[in-house]
Amino acid sequence: MTDRYLEFANSPFGRSLAGLLGLPAPPRLKRAQEGYAAQPLSGRAVLLGGSSRGELAGPLIQALTAMGAALQIAPEHAGLAPIKQAAAAAGVALKSEPGEEDRAAAAEAYVFDGSGFNGSGSLRELYDFFHPRIARIPRNGRVVLLSRAPAEAGDAVAFAVASGLRGFARSLGKELGKKGITVNLLEVPRAAQDFLEGPLRFFLTEHAAFVTGQVLALAAPPPGAQPPPSWVKPLDGTVALVTGAARGIGAAIATVLAREGAQVVGIDRPEEEGALGQTLSAIGGRGLALDITAPEAPARIAEELTRLGGAGLVVHNAGITRDKMLKNMPPHFWDQVLDVNFGAILRINERLFAGGLKDGARMVCIASIGGIGGNAGQTNYATTKAALIGYVEALAPQFASRGGAINAVAPGFIETQMTAAMPAIPREVGRRLSSLGQGGLPLDIAEAVCFLGSPLAMAVNGRTLRVCGQNYFGA
Ligand SMILES: NC(=O)c1ccc[n+]([C@@H]2O[C@H](COP(=O)([O-])OP(=O)(O)OC[C@H]3O[C@@H](n4cnc5c(N)ncnc54)[C@H](O)[C@@H]3O)[C@@H](O)[C@H]2O)c1
Repeated sequence: MTDRYLEFANSPFGRSLAGLLGLPAPPRLKRAQEGYAAQPLSGRAVLLGGSSRGELAGPLIQALTAMGAALQIAPEHAGLAPIKQAAAAAGVALKSEPGEEDRAAAAEAYVFDGSGFNGSGSLRELYDFFHPRIARIPRNGRVVLLSRAPAEAGDAVAFAVASGLRGFARSLGKELGKKGITVNLLEVPRAAQDFLEGPLRFFLTEHAAFVTGQVLALAAPPPGAQPPPSWVKPLDGTVALVTGAARGIGAAIATVLAREGAQVVGIDRPEEEGALGQTLSAIGGRGLALDITAPEAPARIAEELTRLGGAGLVVHNAGITRDKMLKNMPPHFWDQVLDVNFGAILRINERLFAGGLKDGARMVCIASIGGIGGNAGQTNYATTKAALIGYVEALAPQFASRGGAINAVAPGFIETQMTAAMPAIPREVGRRLSSLGQGGLPLDIAEAVCFLGSPLAMAVNGRTLRVCGQNYFGA
């Protein structure tokens, strides 16, 4: 479904009319046109800053250099010494930030190492770095902040200060969204600091165009994990199962996983066999017309995956809504939603844990921001989506012990048949009340699934990533 207002507001006439009337002007987001590149930041400048006691400059410089970025430093800011020291140790050249008049050389991304803050006064360094530069961050620019995982911060004050960065990132995301700029915070435990490159490849590029205002706590990678030998086609040779793959978000997930090298098995209800066949044949995948709630579904899925040598990635995407206020909700609305969105996943996984998954397999469940903040009329749906968020958290150690991970994506308002069926006013409100002022596309969810389902997210486990343009609902 097209967002006609977004198109209008980005036309020359629409832009001036919206300006004249003070109407919102949602930015046109720059999304990835192709798969992960070896050096996605080649020819782009990244401005590096940090706190005076920053601990992550070394791994940051290594990751950004490997991504092809030209590194700039802000002169005379508090965090200059640790950055210069780390760059000298790595033999990496740093350039000074260009003057305001030199727009062509301006950085497209700002990365700030906020580890090491140790008191309320130290947070002034954050203000001092960003305050003079905010207006210079270009449209569709990227801001990534890093902090130590609060739990590793040492004492109560350091814990509180590290937590403070969450409020900063979320607020800055709200301030900068109208320019299509995203702001996200990575919380980095020591065990994950050599695995920063994968998350940075996602958050600093067009693959994460609709992810903003988010805090992602990295986790210890599985024992013996190594960064992949190549970041190009990170799913090369991986057998990936996607449920609900005929249309909407599921079709986009199947397509993006195939783009990154996966061999996709897509499942959808027998009524959708035609659309399923079309989606899967376009990407050289295989469709299986099957209702995931059918009693035979778990065994048939396990059989198919075993025949292909086992799945390296499973994406539980199929989901339905049957909205009614609880007082008016008939029991079959409750039962259907619970069974498709949650019960079927439990049954399929129970069977897959007995065979059908490869060692190191990753899993991604599609939740919803409704499962975080709740929605009137969606007690059934939000129960299932909140349950999935708990499920990935609870199962993370089990997946890690086999070298893999399980995570969830919580979409916000996404332009699909599901949201096209909403009444016009809530639909318009759902779109606009977010930092980016628009709904996302199925591609945005697919990109996040690909990130979490691939070695890029080696150090992400048990987490739920909201992909919602920082929607004010579900907060
Ligand atoms: N669209 C949004 O804004 C939004 C927001 C939050 C979460 N989500 C979640 O994203 C996922 C995909 O949603 P969508 O918007 O693409 O929905 P959609 O209705 O467009 O597509 C869902 C697909 O799942 C399939 N499906 C449903 N029940 C099935 C069953 N029993 N067995 C096999 N396949 C089945 C459908 O046939 C369909 O192809 C869902 O889990 C949904 O809850 C969507």
